[in-house]
Amino acid sequence: MDTTLFLGRFHPLVVHLPITLILLGGIMHFLSTKGKYKYLDSAVSFVLLLGAVSAVVAAILGWFVAEDRGYDPNTLFLHRWLGITVCIGSIMLCVIRFQVLQVSDRLFPILVIVIMGMVGFTGHLGGNLTHGEGYLTEYAPDFVKDIFQGNSNDQMLFANMPTQPDSVIVFNDIILPIVEAKCGNCHNDSQKKGGLNLLTVDGLEEGGDNGAVFVTAKPFESEMLLRTTLPPGHKKFMPPKGTPLSFSEIELLKWWINSGASFEQRFSTLESNSNLATLLKRDFGLDTRIKPIYEMIAVELVGSEVMEQLQENGLIARQISQNNNYLDINVSPDFKELTAENLDALLLVSDQVTWLDLSGMGITDENLEIIGQLEKLTRLRLNSNEISDEGLPYLNKLKYLESISLYDTKVSDKGLTALESINSLRRAYLWQTLVTSEGVSVLKEKLPKLSIDIGVVN
Ligand code: HEC
Repeated sequence: MDTTLFLGRFHPLVVHLPITLILLGGIMHFLSTKGKYKYLDSAVSFVLLLGAVSAVVAAILGWFVAEDRGYDPNTLFLHRWLGITVCIGSIMLCVIRFQVLQVSDRLFPILVIVIMGMVGFTGHLGGNLTHGEGYLTEYAPDFVKDIFQGNSNDQMLFANMPTQPDSVIVFNDIILPIVEAKCGNCHNDSQKKGGLNLLTVDGLEEGGDNGAVFVTAKPFESEMLLRTTLPPGHKKFMPPKGTPLSFSEIELLKWWINSGASFEQRFSTLESNSNLATLLKRDFGLDTRIKPIYEMIAVELVGSEVMEQLQENGLIARQISQNNNYLDINVSPDFKELTAENLDALLLVSDQVTWLDLSGMGITDENLEIIGQLEKLTRLRLNSNEISDEGLPYLNKLKYLESISLYDTKVSDKGLTALESINSLRRAYLWQTLVTSEGVSVLKEKLPKLSIDIGVVN
């Protein structure tokens, strides 16, 4: 085994002989058909013979080196059988030249061209095997790249990623695609280098010949992380061939191990951090932000009649952006106060209103009953109103609400408990209310992702 591998590694060296000789023999043959270079004809057979012999030697060495670790199996298959076809073809050329076999004068040049082409393509595949796909076109102008390799980049890794981070299963959707791409050639069901299959849960849990490959919550005792972070060129560096893990991939692997190396956990239940989110977005085009309702579900455009009706009631509505029919509603400066009748108009756009600012408009606890029906609200400002604990329970069905401002109201700790059921809530502004730091910590316990601003604690 070691001897064949030792010999096999001469394959990349030896292949230059058949490539040169077969191409040279072909060129000499074509030149010799012109009168001026006719003298070359006497050497064509000899050169082609050397080409065929060296092709056979190269093919044998190639067969040996194919056992070496981790060539891309599809490329290897093509390269191997094309190489063997070149051997047979070059032997045939000799057989024809030495007139063991008679063929028509027209056929020979066609055969020469076909075999010269095959030599070139086989060599190119061999290059891909050793240097990796795309080596040749790496520095080509963009239009050349597009022709040869399409738009393949890391973003393709996550082509099947669910669009909502809530549905992303960390192992299946993030870790496995990385391992498949970078380790899968050598650690799979049929090829378990080091006794290790990294592509199945069982395989990962079993580990390799030397035991476990990961230690839950201990990335730096986990063999699969240690080996990918060795200095490149180290004997144990993984992957020994092909593209190493990128910084982002190492970070993701580390994060997965750190947070429990679970095979089922969803992205949203893991502690993530903004650095990780930035890397996922930058390197994999993966948006892990929980998207607000107005980016997820489209709604119908509000007609101009309804807009006018809103305006008559002191409500100025604007689309939140050009291509988005959700509404941002404020109060017209001509109105000092809004009545229950005015507020009723909001129900006409209960499907569309997502941002609402009714600060300082004499809003009462009873009025909140109407507001509580605007179920697409994500941002609600009710500052400087006569609101107390009585009204807040009306709001607890606002399941998309992310931000609420209750600055300068009569809300106290008791009222805050009404917000506990709003899991989407991320920000609450509560200065100049009766809320105490105790009330804040009770709420934070229920909603750990909520940040609460109560200004100066009293
Ligand atoms: C080109 C083939 C190849 C690729 C790609 C590859 N490995 Fe390996 N791996 C091997 C070989 C061969 C061994 C056994 C020799 C050794 O231990 O170095 C091995 C061994 C290992 C071991 C030790 C198993 C044991 O218990 O002995 C770990 C862990 C490992 N690889 C992780 C990885 C990870 C993680 C990746 C992807 C980032 C990867 N490998 C990619 C060829 C590969």
